[in-house]
Amino acid sequence: METPILRIENVSKRYGKKDVLKGASLDVNKGDLKILIGPSGAGKSTLLQCINFLVKPDEGRIWLEGREIHYAQKRDLYAYRQKVGMIFQDFNLFDHLSALENVKIGMVKVRGMAHEQAQERAVMELERVGLKEHLHKYPAQLSGGQKQRVSIARALAMDPKVMLLDEPTSALDPELIGEVLAVIRDLGLAGMTMIMATHQIGFASSLACEIIFMEDGRIVETGTPEKIFYQAECARTREFCSKITELYGETR
Ligand SMILES: Nc1ncnc2c1ncn2[C@@H]1O[C@H](COP(=O)(O)OP(=O)(O)O)[C@@H](O)[C@H]1O
Ligand SMILES: [Mg+2]
Repeated sequence: METPILRIENVSKRYGKKDVLKGASLDVNKGDLKILIGPSGAGKSTLLQCINFLVKPDEGRIWLEGREIHYAQKRDLYAYRQKVGMIFQDFNLFDHLSALENVKIGMVKVRGMAHEQAQERAVMELERVGLKEHLHKYPAQLSGGQKQRVSIARALAMDPKVMLLDEPTSALDPELIGEVLAVIRDLGLAGMTMIMATHQIGFASSLACEIIFMEDGRIVETGTPEKIFYQAECARTREFCSKITELYGETR
């Protein structure tokens, strides 16, 4: 059997007295696009943050390419974070840096690349997300869709093995969502391994290899889009899916 590129085992997180993540387990194979869905507060963001160790899980184990990552081993942790790119709802760009500088900075400061080489790579990644004409613009001069594409280019420049995307289109005006989804779709078609929380079920249903329904800190049900959206076993999954289908449109 194939070794999963990423293995998440029994990850839990508690804030104060509240268990926000209760033993989530997940195997991701190379090239997978797995989509997290579930109501607000289900723990989707916490799970993604735990996977990247942005938040330290209270329990659980995580392996990348068969190698376990330990939070306490800082050098391993930093190397791991470079390999697991994260895309946030609100872009997280530096406002005082141009698009090009935003993409370059990690390569120079974290990977220790020479400026020239980093510059070349940054231009390439920005071209790849369709921003060739906007290299020198600052975030304030870019639309939300363009900002999100800068943040994707920045993640790609670090050569990630896996990308985690936390509702990457939720902060965007409806007419800008498509351009960002198109970039993510192309990444998937190019073989990038991704876990993405989203309410875009049309996108999810045409591209995801697996849908993961979460509620109340638990993975309730997983399956193909067809199964989860139309033949879910759990009543809660069916209820949630019928609600988002109403809000975000049919998937077929
Ligand atoms: N830093 C934090 N401190 C305290 N509670 C948090 C924190 N982050 C998330 N939570 C709580 O954890 C629960 C799950 O949140 P989250 O992972 O953001 O869910 P989702 O992304 O599915 O909406 C929520 O009840 C939220 O209020
Ligand atoms: Mg969230």
